[in-house]
Parts: sequence; C-alpha cells; structure tokens
Amino acid sequence: MKTTEKSLWWKSAVIYQIYPRSFQDSNGDGIGDIPGIISRLDYLADLGIDAIWLSPVYRSPQDDNGYDISDYCDVDPMFGTLTDMDALISEAGKRHIRIIMDLVLNHSSDEHPWFIQARKSRDNPFHDYYIWRDGSKDVPPNDMKACFGGPAWTWVPSVQQYYFHQFSVKQPDLNWDNPKVRKEIYKIINFWIERGVGGFRLDVIDQIAKEPDLKITNNGPMLHAYIREMNRHTFGGTDLVTVGEAWGATVEDAKIYSDPSGREFSMVFQFEHIGLDQIPGKEKWDLAPLDWIKLKKVLSKWQIGLHGCGWNSLFWNNHDLPRIVSRWGDDGKFRIKSAKMLATLLYGMQGTPYIYQGEELGMTNASYDISDYRDIETLHMYRERLAKGYSEADVMRSIHAKGRDNARTPMQWDNSKNAGFSDGEPWLRVNPNYMQINAEDETHTNDSVFAYYKDLIALRKKYPIFIEGDYQLLMSDNPDIFAYKRTWKEQTLYVICNIGAKELKEVIPKDYTHGTLLKSNYAEPGSYLKPYEARIYLK
Ligand code: GLC
Ligand code: CA
Repeated sequence: MKTTEKSLWWKSAVIYQIYPRSFQDSNGDGIGDIPGIISRLDYLADLGIDAIWLSPVYRSPQDDNGYDISDYCDVDPMFGTLTDMDALISEAGKRHIRIIMDLVLNHSSDEHPWFIQARKSRDNPFHDYYIWRDGSKDVPPNDMKACFGGPAWTWVPSVQQYYFHQFSVKQPDLNWDNPKVRKEIYKIINFWIERGVGGFRLDVIDQIAKEPDLKITNNGPMLHAYIREMNRHTFGGTDLVTVGEAWGATVEDAKIYSDPSGREFSMVFQFEHIGLDQIPGKEKWDLAPLDWIKLKKVLSKWQIGLHGCGWNSLFWNNHDLPRIVSRWGDDGKFRIKSAKMLATLLYGMQGTPYIYQGEELGMTNASYDISDYRDIETLHMYRERLAKGYSEADVMRSIHAKGRDNARTPMQWDNSKNAGFSDGEPWLRVNPNYMQINAEDETHTNDSVFAYYKDLIALRKKYPIFIEGDYQLLMSDNPDIFAYKRTWKEQTLYVICNIGAKELKEVIPKDYTHGTLLKSNYAEPGSYLKPYEARIYLK
C-alpha cells in the first residue's frame, strides 16, 4: 500500500457530510443553501476536515429532498446557481477542502426531460432510458415493493405499460442496460469533474444493475461491469475520491469495489453494523436493543477483512440514520461523554471517517409529533403501519428512534432564533435543545464534543498508525468494554472504551495502558473505567 502517494489523499482524509437544506440558510426562506455553506467554511476548516460530501443540490422537484433529480447539470434555484457552486468549489479549495458531489444514478426524477419523453410513446427515443414492462392496468408484472411504500411498478396509460421504481413513484429507475443511458451518465460525471469537484458519493450504486423480472435489486449480474466501464470513462486514473453506497455489500463485495487497483471505487459505505438494532429479518422500524458483542464482531470483521486489500469507510451517521449519541450512546446525562466515546471507537479504526453535520456537536434525535415530520419515508410508513393496525404510540416510538428527520433537523449554530440556521421559518423544526447544544458554545469550550472531534482529526493526521496499522480486537467477549489494538512498524495503539454508564471496577490489562495517553474523555484516567470512558494509548 503506497498511502504516501498524493493520489491516495483520501486515506488520511476526514470527510464531512453536509445536508444542504439543513445546514445554513442565507436568504431567510427557511431552506439551507450554497451561499450559506460558503459562509460556514471557516468553521469546517477549523474542525480540520479535508472534503465535504454534499448531499444533492441539483435541480429537483424535491420529492425525496433532492434524491430525485430533474437536471443533473444545474443547481436547484432553492440552493443557488451554478455560479454559487463554482464559488463553493473555489472557496473550499482555498481552505484545502474538496467538494464531493452526490450522484444519484440509479433513478432520475419523473420530471426529468428524459422521463417526460419516455412516457409519451413506446417508440420515443427516450422510452428505453427507463425500465418498462407490459401488463394490464390491474395486474403489475410482479409483486415487488418500492422502498417508500406501495408497489415498485406504476402504470402509464399513454404507453399501456408499467415503469419500475425502487423508491417513490417520482423516482423512476434508469435502464443501465441501455448503452445510451450509460453514455449520458458519463457526460454528467465529466461535467462535474471539469468544474473541479474532488470526488463523488454514488447513491444506492449496488442497485443500478437490477433484474426486475428475477426480483433482483442489489448486486445484479452486470453490476461490476457497469461500474468499471463508468470508472474508465470518468474518474478512473484521477485523484478523485469515490464512495459507493452499497446497503447489501459483504466484505467480499467490498474487496471488489475498493480493490487497490482502482478499477472501481475508493471505498464503499457498508451497512452491516447499522442493521444490528432491529429485529432480524424485519424492517428498521422494528426496534431491538443493540447487541454490543455483535457490533464488535461486525466492525472487527470489516477492519480485518479489508486490511491491505481494500478500504473501509467509517461512519455512525448520515442523513438517513438517527443521531448516534441518541442511538448507541446516552443523549441525557452522559451526552458529552458518550458522544466522545463513540467518536473514539470509530476514529481509532482504519478507514476514512465521515462526520455527518452536527455529529461533531453531539446533536441528538428529535421527538416531534407526526405533523412536524417531512420525510417521505417516515410519512409513508406512518400511514402504512396505522392502516395495518399498529398503535399510534408504537409507530411514533419507531419514528423517534429511526426516522430520517432525526438527522435532518437544522444545524444548531448558536442560541439565537432558529439556532442561527435561518431568519425565516425553517422547513423542518429546529430541535428545541439548541439552547444547550450549539456550535457557538462548543467552539469556545475546551472540553466540548467539537473540541474532541477536532483533536481526533488532528491525531489521525499526526500518527500514520491510524491510517496504516493493522487491527486486532481485544476482550472480544466482554460486554462492557470495546477495546482493540492497532500495530504498525514498532508502534502499538490501544483504544479502550467503556460502552455504558456503569463504572467498571474491572482492571484493564497493564500492557494496554503502558504507552502515552494520546486522548481521553476524562481528565484523570484511573485504574478502572468510568462511565463511557474512552482512552487511546500509543506505545
Ligand atoms: C439513498 C439516499 C437516500 C435516498 C435513496 C434514494 O439511500 O441516501 O436519502 O432516499 O438513496 O435515492
Ligand atoms: Ca435559503
């Protein structure tokens, strides 16, 4: 592994995800925008990040908050203009921050000109840009379901056919088997490369090669062939970072995606750990407590599995997931301690860490009434489950735990009106705890969650062992302690975390604590672990 090579900058990088509509509003319409992001770049530079993954800002009817694109080469007026985008790329560049665009290539919006054409007639040249099947009005081709509720097939009377959509009716799946579609996609990617972006996050990329007749969605037979072709025609051979979103990826799949030869992507987002607090075989809404021993096993499997032959992404959060401190930490009494512990656990590992906006402040889940939620997925599920006979209380419990709007509440900048996010009415309610949790306070407090993230980022830059070292799980059957060791050359790094609120009288093995204490969330580490205590030692 030649991580010193400039082109592999992303191995030692930390990437920050911005969900534009909730980050910073600059014009009082209640929706975050690109000029708003530019005004906060100094905050991000201070944190020490290397790149921003920008959730979609393209033109879009916003059925799924921009993951339904109607023009891939323009910016939605709600977020700004192409000129604003150029300014963002250059202003970020001045601060050594690259911009990573979110490419939603599995589907477009139904308002994309391609689809408007495609639905006109069967012999329209764009018809075959999408996936159509014959059937009759009441009998769809099969019983596949869409992610946001309802069937995956929608009838179009003008062509007397169904089109296929894995997500909402307004997100028709693109037909990657059509070479013209692939060519158009490469043009789009190259358009952004020429504008100077630093990379791409590829939305649900493992679903592009679907075979709906066989009910195959993930990992279709042509998947890797299509990815390699895309790579060759676009970012292959450049220093761009690419991360594919692959919900179904196993370690073996990830080795192929992130093979150091660079034929596919730099890395993928895998979600095996994310599914550990739901009832097996059920949906994310079917809550189960997290089994920490399983979490240790899963994360360790990925650490060991990709070492030297692939690359991991490290994340607890994104715009689709609940806030980690509420999820697997304690967002009450131990909010600050547990947020730091969770950060330590992840940032000691090998891979590229991703921070989701507000995570560095220890922002928490929100508990609203149903009328305050905006997310298409949440609203669909709410209606669907009530109709199936679930109790309102039950459904709300699931939403409070897992709803995507938990992560999408506006960024908490300060304790002024609307947390400093907007002068107008925010599109989604601000979490009322912004008086206690906000960036203004945390950037001026030495022991804040923000300060801790900043230190962890700096440590990763200072010691190559974080980037290069191998990984070994310690105390694997201990239900209270998550500990591991990394080794590189003559050095050893120990990461030791108390994952709960119990004080652990158990004595930590001496050789773990022999080195220099690089980082801890307590001022004076003793011989046993205090609630949510986290330590990193270097020997
Ligand atoms: C991805 C996105 C999610 C979106 C879906 C459909 O999972 O992260 O927000 O709804 O794809 O594009
Ligand atoms: Ca705005």
